[in-house]
Order: sequence, then C-alpha cells, then structure tokens
Amino acid sequence: MPDMPRLAAGNWKMHGLAADLAEARELAATPPPQGVEVLICPPATLIARMAGALAGSGLRVGGQDCHAAAKGAHTGDISAAMLSDAGATHVILGHSERRADHGESSAEVVAKARAAWAAGLVAIVCIGETEAERAAGATLEVVAAQLEHSLPRGATAANAVVAYEPVWAIGSGRTPGAREIAQVHAFLRGQLPDRGIRLLYGGSVKPDNADTIFAIPEVDGALVGGASLKAADFGAIIAALGRN
Ligand code: 13P
Repeated sequence: MPDMPRLAAGNWKMHGLAADLAEARELAATPPPQGVEVLICPPATLIARMAGALAGSGLRVGGQDCHAAAKGAHTGDISAAMLSDAGATHVILGHSERRADHGESSAEVVAKARAAWAAGLVAIVCIGETEAERAAGATLEVVAAQLEHSLPRGATAANAVVAYEPVWAIGSGRTPGAREIAQVHAFLRGQLPDRGIRLLYGGSVKPDNADTIFAIPEVDGALVGGASLKAADFGAIIAALGRN
C-alpha cells in the first residue's frame, strides 16, 4: 500500500457556534501542503454546516463520538451513519474526556469502532496514560493494554488511526519530551496490527512546538484541541507538518 498522508486533525471538543465556521473557511482558503490531510471534528451540531463550508477544499470533517448501535432508542446519541450522512468521513473514539466524563470503556470503544466502519467512517482511536501512571513507570504497559482492548480486529491503515494523547498533556500546556514521545510511538508502532496505521500525537500541540513534535520518528501527525480553534494557529501547525 502507498504511504498514507500525514494527518492534522482538529478536535473542537465542546466549542463552536455558527460564527466559528469563519475560522474553518479561513483555513480552507489555503490548500494543505503536499502529503498532508486535514480534518476538523466540530461539535455534532456543526458537522453538516462545516461540511458545506469546506466543500471543494479537500479538508475533511469528522465527529467526536458515535453510538455503538446503528439506530434505536438512545436519546441524545448519534449513530455513525448519521455522522456520515451529515458529511463526516472520520470519527474520534475513546477520547480520554469521554472515558472520564462518560465512563467509556475500551470494550465500548471497540464496539463503536465497528459501528464506525459499518458506516464507512475512519475510526480515530485515542489512548494515553495518566500522570500517575507515567510517574509509576507504567506508560508503555498502559498504552499497550488500551491499544489491544480499544482497537478491533480488522484495523488497517485505511480504516483506523491511533492517537496517543497523554491525559496529563491535554489542555495543560505541558508535553512529554521528544525522547519520551519517540519511545511511546516506536513502541506503539510495533504493537499495531498494520504498521501503516497512522500514529498521531495529541496533547498541547501548538504552533511553537509543532516542528519539534513532527520531527520525531513515528509521529504521523497530530490530534489538536485548543490550537485547532483558530485558523492562524491550526494553519501554522499544518504548515509545520508539511515541512517535517
Ligand atoms: P489540547 O491540544 O487542547 O491539549 O487537546 C488535545 C486533545 O485532547 C485533542 O483531542
């Protein structure tokens, strides 16, 4: 299989009203660098309008979660087919905020990823250790177990992406050192069922650390939270991915 493009994915989390589509339109005005794929995952209410705003730009739209069932009596939930119908091509699954806020287990993430595949979506499966787990020297053990239990059999470079997001680095302005990220990514690469599955780093990726992070071997892109909300910042991160 040819090499997959590197991926800059923005996770807007619970941010974004219609007026914020202007940021996406501004971002879409500059074509991504060669070999770089760009994805924005807005809140569900904006997916369809985001797809419209990005139409023709090559930038893609994703969801932040889906239900494991195809349909049914699940008030407030969204199915993978609904995301696809609204214009999404990807869905983030098992983000640490969902694991913490909603008690989501790795077994549920597997079921959701299967539902995503059934709807033709690429599943972006998130894993990462807490600060206590890192302090205890358990990082590799924790991420290996999460990967094994969160990624269904049948994951390939075409239908899955793995995002390594240390929980303590999310929204904190702190990141692991380059050697630590390199160690985890090299380790995860060896655990993947298909070595072509892209491995993203996530957690306080900003314009001023993007070059350092993207130069690390085995880092195929980033899952970006806060810095993806502003076109200038996310654009600078995308440009850094293009030159590293
Ligand atoms: P920040 O980039 O805001 O740290 O968030 C990272 C993240 O959780 C992306 O999914």
